[in-house]
Amino acid sequence: MHSLSRLAKLKSRKIVGLMSGTSADGVDACLVEVGGSGSKLTWKILSVASVSYPAEVRKAVIEASEVETGRTDLICTLNFVLGEIFAETALKAVRGAQLRPQQIDLVASHGQTIHHLPQSRSIDGYASRSTLQIGEISVIAERLGVPVVGDFRVRDVAAGGVGAPLVPYADRLLFEQSERAVVLQNIGGIANVTLLPPQQSGKPLLAFDTGPGNMIVDAVVHDVTLGKKLYDTEGAMASAGTVDHALVERLMEDEFVNRAPPKTAGRENYGREFFRTLSTLSLFGRVKGSDLVATVTCFTARAIAENYRRWVFPQWKPEEIVVCGGGSRNKYLMGRLKEELKGIAVVPIDERGVPWQAKEALSFAILGNESVCGVASNVPGVTGASHPVILGKFVP
Ligand SMILES: Nc1ncnc2c1ncn2[C@@H]1O[C@H](COP(=O)(O)OP(=O)(O)OP(=O)(O)O)[C@@H](O)[C@H]1O
Ligand SMILES: [Mg+2]
Repeated sequence: MHSLSRLAKLKSRKIVGLMSGTSADGVDACLVEVGGSGSKLTWKILSVASVSYPAEVRKAVIEASEVETGRTDLICTLNFVLGEIFAETALKAVRGAQLRPQQIDLVASHGQTIHHLPQSRSIDGYASRSTLQIGEISVIAERLGVPVVGDFRVRDVAAGGVGAPLVPYADRLLFEQSERAVVLQNIGGIANVTLLPPQQSGKPLLAFDTGPGNMIVDAVVHDVTLGKKLYDTEGAMASAGTVDHALVERLMEDEFVNRAPPKTAGRENYGREFFRTLSTLSLFGRVKGSDLVATVTCFTARAIAENYRRWVFPQWKPEEIVVCGGGSRNKYLMGRLKEELKGIAVVPIDERGVPWQAKEALSFAILGNESVCGVASNVPGVTGASHPVILGKFVP
């Protein structure tokens, strides 16, 4: 019997964190041994694993996410299909550590976001913000025989927050330093930043989505290669292209990029509709092929840097920025970011002992640990919730 109270009493827990982000490229898993909770938490990564979504699954995830193509029968099926892929990825991480599922205490799954509506909408007088992550956790529990905690965002939304970002709580436990500010920049489909002021300063952390991560670059690469490539490996296409600076300037007028935090973005901001606008703008400028890839990659870097200049640097000028997520593999993007942020070291997270693809999955393992220990792990100051809440739903 896997009761919550038994899990909470364990001295240490082996937890598989699972994450698939807005890029919808596949599931990342991180198996971590966690001791304690809250400020007494200790952690050690045992293995990481990834499973790419097959092309048809990725297409289905994107279809399900878009207003024009999302259908209830597709979402219903996909919920269970993704449950299988999340379970497969968890098993891969378990085997990668030469362990068996029986030796694992908990799986903590973020799931796949297919829609996120941070602005309240109303039906017949009942108004609410909402968010929807799928990848049925009952399927994961059934395949592994391990209890699962998932669906982390909804409790924060119910408490008046926007349900995102949730990773900053884990960032604080994992990376906070006593005398130095730490800035963590994740570049997934969307890009998001966490600023951890020095612990001894007693200042609150700051975290928000800065705007596009790889999402626009991926869409352009897919388009200009007629579907042959899903992303710009190492930034090679961008490196071969020439930036259209006038178009970058136009793109920098983006409302979300210039908006003050708190703010959270998704495929709703930089998906199909954005791509349509971009196609119109670039046609006028006749930008195409690798030049367009270079241009949107340049915009992506500048959008991140602009958010720093406006909202981060006025609070702290950090010595270094630690970068994770798939964008950290794009050499051209990283080069642009370094140029934009002269004088600050831009360091891949691998140099801090965490594999670049594992950071978000690691964070959800930490959030799962807090949930089973009965510790609230939203940060109301960043999500806008009215109070701290214990996140997640539990399948024993
Ligand atoms: N070798 C590489 N070169 C260039 N870009 C890469 C490489 N590997 C991955 N990427 C980019 O990273 C993306 C995937 O990043 P990641 O998995 O961190 O994002 P995500 O799934 O949106 O996650 P999250 O929302 O948790 O940040 C790919 O879609 C691609 O754009
Ligand atoms: Mg991913």
